[in-house]
Amino acid sequence: MRIKVRQALSAEQPLVGVTVSGWVRTRRDSKGFSFVEVNDGSCFKNLQAVVDHALPGADDLKDALTGSSVSIEGELVPSPAKGQKWELKATAFRLVGRADESFPLQKKGHTVEFLRTIPHLRARTNRLGSLMRVRSRMAMAVHGFFQQRGFAYVHTPIITASDCEGAGELFRVTTLDPASPPKGPDGAIDWSADFFARQSYLTVSGQLEGETLACALGDVYTFGPTFRAENSNTSRHASEFWMIEPEMAFCDLEGDMRCAEELVKHLVKTALEECPDELEFFNAYVDKGLLERLRFVAERPFARVSYTEAVEILLRCGRTFEFPVVWGENLQSEHERYLTEVHFKSPLTVYNYPKTAKPFYMRQNDDGKTVAAMDLLVPGVGEIVGGSQREERLDRLVAAMQAHGLDLESYGWYIDTRRFGSVPHAGFGLGFERLLMFVTGEGNIRDVIAYPRTPGHA
Ligand code: 4AD
Ligand code: MG
Repeated sequence: MRIKVRQALSAEQPLVGVTVSGWVRTRRDSKGFSFVEVNDGSCFKNLQAVVDHALPGADDLKDALTGSSVSIEGELVPSPAKGQKWELKATAFRLVGRADESFPLQKKGHTVEFLRTIPHLRARTNRLGSLMRVRSRMAMAVHGFFQQRGFAYVHTPIITASDCEGAGELFRVTTLDPASPPKGPDGAIDWSADFFARQSYLTVSGQLEGETLACALGDVYTFGPTFRAENSNTSRHASEFWMIEPEMAFCDLEGDMRCAEELVKHLVKTALEECPDELEFFNAYVDKGLLERLRFVAERPFARVSYTEAVEILLRCGRTFEFPVVWGENLQSEHERYLTEVHFKSPLTVYNYPKTAKPFYMRQNDDGKTVAAMDLLVPGVGEIVGGSQREERLDRLVAAMQAHGLDLESYGWYIDTRRFGSVPHAGFGLGFERLLMFVTGEGNIRDVIAYPRTPGHA
């Protein structure tokens, strides 16, 4: 019977007749037998197998180099070696697939830069393997959080004709021949001849469709890929990333902020509980302060400050930033990190941003200058959540859309939610990769997703 290394290492008693299959991490030969460290990806640790050279298949041991795949049958017995409770005393050895000396992941340590050149192999390292397991657990914890609260998981379109964020960072989707697109009488490209009979794009956010579904189902969330043709080559931006977007009917900014803070706390707690070996590894090799920071975050309430107060803090702090602090403009990454890392030393929600810095759909506050927006900032990463209460008043929404130069006719479906039983509602987007950077201490978004897409790299 095949068992996973994870099951073997947590066994309560010795087992007979079990098979462990995986990839050789290292092999040490001694007189008459060899020690083979096998990792099958099911957990951080390897299982050591002791293979007698007289066993069936043992002739192939010499070819079982690092990276080779093997199936080893045997008995799970208490291990005399320190640091491991069990080892596999082999009764049969099978070399499944050879890997020769050219396998790039030999025992020595590798730089993350080198690992990025082999995305198809790097999940076999402790670092990326751990990341992928944490990523999987975190995805399920996202679903657990919302399902437990009665939210419906909805799927919003990936191909869309609208630009939710209005930032124009869209990837075009077309089947027209780039060399000779059909043209109208005025010489411009005739998009009505394109596949969807209009210009279409990969989505930057499922929010607008999510709002319409929240106005039917109450509380909904999406969890899917989003795309941004943002030409910013930073350690925090990817062109393709995953976003979690809850949308809640009968909810205001206060409820929105609370939900985001509870979600982030829940995810941090789950990681601490369910991925202890992986987090120990990241704490030891990637970010020495990780565990201390995560425990702090799991226990303490997050700080909150209005945008206006945040600007005052930044203006008073005596630092010179690369970008000047100006009321009315979005906070830059360096400002956000100063607030969360230096001033508050805690995750921080900033709310009530100037309306000039934000998209059309955010609810206007009575001061006439700000909107009911919020961003959640965390130490080491900066913004991980962006959200708002939505403008539910028809006249205000239409005025804001006109001010942003949107074509009202093509957003008629969105405006309908305000015409038929409009309700106060709110939501946010949590960047899944940013969350993973926070939970693992990884400093670059390229190392928290299996196949990163960034400008110039697909
Ligand atoms: O702040 P953003 O742009 O907000 C929205 O898209 C809203 N429509 C969400 C909503 O209210 N439903 O993006 C939300 C989050 C950011 O806080 C960040 O964590 C992540 O998405 N994000 C990115 N992550 C990686 N690479 C990028 N290029 C990202 N852009 C945004
Ligand atoms: Mg944002």
